[in-house]
Amino acid sequence: MNKTIIAHTPTEMEEIGIELASILTDGMVVSLVGPLGAGKTTLTKGIAKGLLITDVVVSPSYMIARSYEGRLCMHHIDAYRVSSLDELAEVGLDEYLPPESGISVVEWPDRIEGLVDISHIKVTIELLDSGLSEFDEDRRVNISKQ
Ligand SMILES: Nc1ncnc2c1ncn2[C@@H]1O[C@H](COP(=O)(O)OP(=O)(O)O)[C@@H](O)[C@H]1O
Ligand SMILES: [Mg+2]
Repeated sequence: MNKTIIAHTPTEMEEIGIELASILTDGMVVSLVGPLGAGKTTLTKGIAKGLLITDVVVSPSYMIARSYEGRLCMHHIDAYRVSSLDELAEVGLDEYLPPESGISVVEWPDRIEGLVDISHIKVTIELLDSGLSEFDEDRRVNISKQ
C-alpha cells in the first residue's frame, strides 16, 4: 500500500490516524517521519482514537515512551533524544521494536539508523508552503506499508 493524502487541518490529520488504526495488528511498528510541528503527535492522537484509547495522548518527549491501553496497546516512542538502537536497548525500549503485543508508534525514527527499515508502516509528513502561517498550512501525508 502506498497512498498520499492532504490534511488541511489538525482534525483531518487525526482522521488519517483513525483510519490508519484500522489496518494495525499486533506487533506492528509505525514510523512517523517529519519536521518539528509537522503533525506527528496529532496523527498519533488519531491512531489512539482509532484504537479506542480513552486516555489523553501527550508528547512522550521527556519520557521517551508511554504506553496506552485500547483495542490494542499503543506504545508511543519519541526517539528525538536517542541516537542509536543500543541506546534504546539500554533503557529497555528495544522490547517495543517490534512489540510482543500491541503496536508501536515512533516519532523521529530517522534519528536512529535502521529503525525506519524495521517499521511495517512508514508515514512521511511534509508541510506544504501555501503562503499561510505554519499554524494552518496543509500537510502532505504519505503512507507506505513496507
Ligand atoms: N494540517 C495540519 N495537520 C496537522 N497539524 C496541523 C495542521 N495545521 C496546523 N497544525 C498544527 O501544527 C501543530 C502540529 O503539532 P504536533 O502534532 O505536535 O507536531 P509534531 O509532533 O510533528 O512535532 C499543531 O499545533 C497543529 O494544530
Ligand atoms: Mg511530536
